[in-house]
Amino acid sequence: MFIEVFYKKSKVQNDNLLKTEAYVDGRWVTAGSGKTFNVNNPATGELIASVPDMNREDVRAAIDAAHDAWQPYRELSAKDRSVLLRKWYTLILENKDELANLMTIESGKVLKESIGEVEYGASFIEWFAEEAKRTYGDVIPAPTNDKRIVVIKQSIGVVAALTPWNFPLAMITRKVAPALAAGSPVVVKPPSETPLTALALAELAERAGFPRGVYNTIATTESSEVGKELCENRKVRKLSFTGSTQVGKILMSQCSSTLKKMSLELGGNAPFIVFDDADIDAAVKGAIASKFRNSGQTCVCVNRFFAQDKIYEEFVSKLTAAVAALKIGNGLDPGVQVGPLISEKGLNKVKQYVEDAVAKGAAVRGGGKEMGGLYYQPTVLANATADMIIAQEEVFGPVAPVFKFSSEEEVIKMANDTEYGLAAYFYTKDVSRCWRVAEALECGMVGINEGLISNAAAPFGGVKQSGIGREGSKYGMDYFMELKYICFGNIQ
Ligand code: SIN
Repeated sequence: MFIEVFYKKSKVQNDNLLKTEAYVDGRWVTAGSGKTFNVNNPATGELIASVPDMNREDVRAAIDAAHDAWQPYRELSAKDRSVLLRKWYTLILENKDELANLMTIESGKVLKESIGEVEYGASFIEWFAEEAKRTYGDVIPAPTNDKRIVVIKQSIGVVAALTPWNFPLAMITRKVAPALAAGSPVVVKPPSETPLTALALAELAERAGFPRGVYNTIATTESSEVGKELCENRKVRKLSFTGSTQVGKILMSQCSSTLKKMSLELGGNAPFIVFDDADIDAAVKGAIASKFRNSGQTCVCVNRFFAQDKIYEEFVSKLTAAVAALKIGNGLDPGVQVGPLISEKGLNKVKQYVEDAVAKGAAVRGGGKEMGGLYYQPTVLANATADMIIAQEEVFGPVAPVFKFSSEEEVIKMANDTEYGLAAYFYTKDVSRCWRVAEALECGMVGINEGLISNAAAPFGGVKQSGIGREGSKYGMDYFMELKYICFGNIQ
């Protein structure tokens, strides 16, 4: 009955996915203050649209709506929640081209990758639509015969999802799909760079028929104030964030006031090791895929390449040739493989890290220059050393520094010499080495002879200062559910 009412409501459809209002409590709304902010295309600088610039009070209203929706939503059967997710999944795929276009226009991501991201993002919804039906509990043998021990899993409550601009769609679905599957309403706070994809997703969630208040998306430039409310509001029971380690630490301290459960997917400093027994051409292919995806702006992008001394020159030369062949430009243009960076700040950081590396002895083997606007040439830096900023900090741009090593033991130490521990990659043909190195690397995810490792079936997340928790996979639901132990006593 509950669902039917909302399916009927969603029949009032508008095919245009460019939404310029926020979605709160089942309605499209402006900011209470009436303020708006502009969203611009990083490829051209052009204005795309203006959206509401919401403040703490506006977000409080979204939290209240989500909280009011929690009780009736969690009472839906797992099957009904699964059906809603499946419907949303189908709508996203039906609107793949329009979503991808919007994503490219607001994030600069090249169109082929945007299409890939829509499919990748949708795959989390498909995955958790299935998992919704499998949140099994447990029956545990009791220590005495007069008792029975049962464990059930229950929805955690309102979930706040704070998402980044580098994956405007998939980082939302990777968080909200398990929450919605588990029976938890969501408040999505997208970044100010890419609110439009998030609002388009909200439109499709409305069309899918999620009950009023279950799915909310705000928009704001006041990230610290709004983030504080999401952290400190007692009605929010779980906060899931993807972004920098620096911001993750601030959110964690703010969440301590309510002891809120958190999942944090933070920065990385991924090593990519090429041993001298590797297939060098395969390693170069993997290197290009991993390093230059989204112009180098992903948390799992390679940050440091390590090539063994015997094959160092061969790897650097082949990588340089492959990088020189990359087509750079507006992500909407056919064949373009590397788009602009997201902002002036991002571009300046890339320039600074390259200048620092060159000053400390790096040799520019390809690229190394800005190209006007927010474009930077894909770059290879040979002779990289540990004292360069790029050895410790995430460059988040299309720059590939290559370090030299001589032994397995040495490179494991070099690879682990970072506060981060998200992804790592290595290339070798030696099976014993595969196990040794994979086990020795301090990280949450390892690609062996593979540069692209993300998918809905696998647990995504890091160790050390790269985060807390895992997203996706059969483990993903547990982060949005609470265990309850029930004791049956006096059994005769
Ligand atoms: C990220 O960069 O945060 C996500 C990358 C991925 O899902 O592959």
